[in-house]
Amino acid sequence: MVSPLISPKPLKLPGAHVVVTGGSSGIGKCIAIECYKQGAFITLIARDENKLLQTKKEIEKYSVNDKQVVLCISVDVSKDYELVENVLKQAQEKLGPVDLLVNCAGTSVTGKFEDIEVNSFERLMGVNYLGSVYPSRAVISTMKERRMGRIVFVSSQAGQLGLFGYTAYSPTKFALRGLAEALQMEVKPYNIYITVAYPPDTDTPGFAEESKTKVNSSGMLQCV
Ligand SMILES: NC(=O)c1ccc[n+]([C@@H]2O[C@H](COP(=O)([O-])OP(=O)(O)OC[C@H]3O[C@@H](n4cnc5c(N)ncnc54)[C@H](OP(=O)(O)O)[C@@H]3O)[C@@H](O)[C@H]2O)c1
Repeated sequence: MVSPLISPKPLKLPGAHVVVTGGSSGIGKCIAIECYKQGAFITLIARDENKLLQTKKEIEKYSVNDKQVVLCISVDVSKDYELVENVLKQAQEKLGPVDLLVNCAGTSVTGKFEDIEVNSFERLMGVNYLGSVYPSRAVISTMKERRMGRIVFVSSQAGQLGLFGYTAYSPTKFALRGLAEALQMEVKPYNIYITVAYPPDTDTPGFAEESKTKVNSSGMLQCV
């Protein structure tokens, strides 16, 4: 699932500040839980406040020491760079500089090219691509100053090859790979490592939603 562009030394998670965008559901939530179980301090970013608070409670059950904190930030990662920068600054004031940023917020729309609303192409590029650029851009200077840090981009198997019905989604996930490879060249001298994750179909609330409108190459709704 995970393709490290270069093999770095393992990050020590106990006491680390881990930010997970899309951390209130599915893959992001699982990543947040796994990091928390290993002693990390967690910042969860997503839009829906109730879902964030519910997830915070769920994660806190796995506490390994009484100092651990789960911070929730309700923000749209794709809309306003300055807002994203500002909330991440506040998170760093509370929990320290970000050691690991996992860009997991994302969504999909499937269907035949001509049936997909034009604004869906823009929205998906906004959430899946710019929604990863903005948080990364907001933490990179501090990571460079500290000469340490990790950034993960959650792409998809549909980011490795184009799939039928994924004309709006696949390009947004291909774009992450280009970003990761170019960025890795810039930040390697600063001991910062970029990872691209390419998950296959994974049983999550997002996947269940996508499956309602998935089409196969006969143009039929695909039942999973
Ligand atoms: N599940 C799969 O089969 C699969 C396979 C390959 C890749 N992926 C990728 O893995 C990532 C997670 O997928 P998932 O299936 O776990 O999805 P999910 O269950 O729908 O979770 C998506 C998360 O992203 C947040 N989010 C969505 N749009 C956002 C925005 N504009 N700003 C901030 N947060 C936003 C959601 O919270 P709010 O709605 O409250 O904002 C939620 O926390 C996505 O990037 C997806 O493309 C998934």
